[in-house]
Amino acid sequence: MTNGDWPSAEGLVLRPWAVDDRDVLVAAWADPEVRRWTAVPDDASPDAAARWIAGGWRRREEGLALDLVGVSVDDGRILGEVGLSAFDTARRAARIGWWTAASERGRGVATAMVRAMTGWAHDGPLALRVVVAEVDPANPASVTVVRRAGYELLGKVPGRLTEGSTTDGRLVFASQPPVCGATGEGASATRV
Ligand SMILES: CC(C)(COP(=O)(O)OP(=O)(O)OC[C@H]1O[C@@H](n2cnc3c(N)ncnc32)[C@H](O)[C@@H]1OP(=O)(O)O)[C@@H](O)C(=O)NCCC(=O)NCCS
Repeated sequence: MTNGDWPSAEGLVLRPWAVDDRDVLVAAWADPEVRRWTAVPDDASPDAAARWIAGGWRRREEGLALDLVGVSVDDGRILGEVGLSAFDTARRAARIGWWTAASERGRGVATAMVRAMTGWAHDGPLALRVVVAEVDPANPASVTVVRRAGYELLGKVPGRLTEGSTTDGRLVFASQPPVCGATGEGASATRV
């Protein structure tokens, strides 16, 4: 998977996790909101966070996941994370997930990160045809984020998104609506 030339948006740049970011990750893994809506490892200790960060290059090399932090261009502080996973090379698709650090919420960070990552996933070296987001309907802030980032609702599928979820069902959004009959390379000017 690609290295370098990461996405950017107004006010922030995205880059891979670095060893020095460990405490930010530990804080996020301890945040009740992040634990409620995203998959946090059972071992959320500082050592586990350091190991997870160290394994980032391998997850990228093996095409398993691309996890980037959003960093403020003003002072370099970490604002949140956005990641791609579940890569489907045949369909040129991936799933996107995100969180914003507790102290940085309500200022458009998640929307900017999701928008930047999605645009880069389509137009950058990955050249994906579609990015999919699964959002718990009881998480209205993330529904707002994904809609504002230009995703369209495909439908609802059964099953809990996380252990902490209280609803049985996930909203599935796509960065581009699938077009019946599109056959791939060059089939459509709209990339789908
Ligand atoms: C959801 C989350 C990512 C939002 O991050 P953020 O940086 O604050 O998001 P943004 O500022 O880009 O946009 C959030 C929007 O949702 C709105 N919002 C927040 N809480 C809301 C609620 N309970 N109901 C409806 N809208 C809500 C905000 O007001 C904002 O809209 P505004 O700009 O009109 O005010 C953040 O709260 C978070 O990290 N939550 C825990 C992890 C998580 O849920 N990850 C996503 C899993 S799919």
